Amino acid sequence: MTPTPEDRFTFGLWTVGWQGRDPFGDATRPALDPVETVNRLAELGAYGVTFHDDDLIPFGSSDSEREEHIKRFRAALDATGLKVPMATTNLFTHPVFKDGAFTANDRDVRRYALRKTIRNIDLAAELGATTYVAWGGREGAESGAAKDVRVALDRLKEAFDLLGQYVTEQGYDLRFAIEPKPNEPRGDILLPTVGHALAFINELEYADRVGLNPEVGHEQMAGLNFPHGIAQALWHGKLFHIDLNGQSGIKYDQDFRFGAGDLRQAFWLVDLLESAGYEGPRHFDFKPPRTEDFDGVWASAAGCMQNYLLLKEKALAFRADPEVQAALAASRLDQLAARTAEDGLAALLADRSAFEDFDVEAAAQRGMAFEQLDQLALEHLLGAR
Ligand code: GCO
Ligand code: MN
Ligand code: MN
Ligand code: MN
Repeated sequence: MTPTPEDRFTFGLWTVGWQGRDPFGDATRPALDPVETVNRLAELGAYGVTFHDDDLIPFGSSDSEREEHIKRFRAALDATGLKVPMATTNLFTHPVFKDGAFTANDRDVRRYALRKTIRNIDLAAELGATTYVAWGGREGAESGAAKDVRVALDRLKEAFDLLGQYVTEQGYDLRFAIEPKPNEPRGDILLPTVGHALAFINELEYADRVGLNPEVGHEQMAGLNFPHGIAQALWHGKLFHIDLNGQSGIKYDQDFRFGAGDLRQAFWLVDLLESAGYEGPRHFDFKPPRTEDFDGVWASAAGCMQNYLLLKEKALAFRADPEVQAALAASRLDQLAARTAEDGLAALLADRSAFEDFDVEAAAQRGMAFEQLDQLALEHLLGAR
């Protein structure tokens, strides 16, 4: 299984470039040159690369240094054919963002955050990106009175309305993708889940331009079913982008390679993305553990793609299996797809077989056959079929 650009696999510069600094320990790996990353990802069969402004242009660079970093990066993109489908802003590393960015209590910080974002939006558009991710890294709080959440949401809406106005006025072909996360690095983060973010988007001036970038581990940190969240995002037409990685239950944000952690949810996720016809990039946002040297880093990146392709093969075989199709019918998935009252409300009210003559006890005894269906899935996943 060799990944090719047609598979649309993309990686953040900050993923393979993570140096292993955590709250308890120093970096275990040296910095990685973005040009080296572009070359290695292209060799591995990736389609594209994504970045935060500061991943590409170290914070505090002069204008001429900035131009030089961009020039080298562009040359590597041109030489390899790697694309930049998405970019984002680092609004969390510098101490100025300790209380957040678009919702910092300090108004000066909010204005600075918008200008920093707009500067990188210009670069994203120049490099051909069509998605701009907004992860609210430090938009949140550790204590109750420190953040007036309703007012902070006003400021968050104000930020997205200004950014929407900016890209519209510039004529950029760019949409925003909000990335929910329940906590870490703040005690609690605003827009903690897919559901919160979907509701927030409805209140925005440029709502059509704003969707989601859900990350596997972030929903799972909240104990939620990630494939269900993705299905609902698709249902709303809001799955603009996705961060694939691995997580084992309700813990710190583990950012394992895709396929590690909850393998069954990974299977149902790939099954969903492939059967729903999701056409966006398959973007990996993972952190190769700090135990690894660079051989381990590239093995981890290759593993993300390999696991996606293996799960895709398993999911397609599952759907094509005649026994599975019979089991789906036995579980009445075809009935779920039928309208409940295509005959209309009046006919439903007049239908005695729907209520007066309905044999509730007999219906209650009908088994759903879900266990046989799920066992078939497990056997496909385990390679027994
Ligand atoms: C996390 C987040 C981040 C963001 C990225 C984009 O793991 O907490 O996923 O990695 O996706 O920084 O802003
Ligand atoms: Mn994460
Ligand atoms: Mn992410
Ligand atoms: Mn991440």
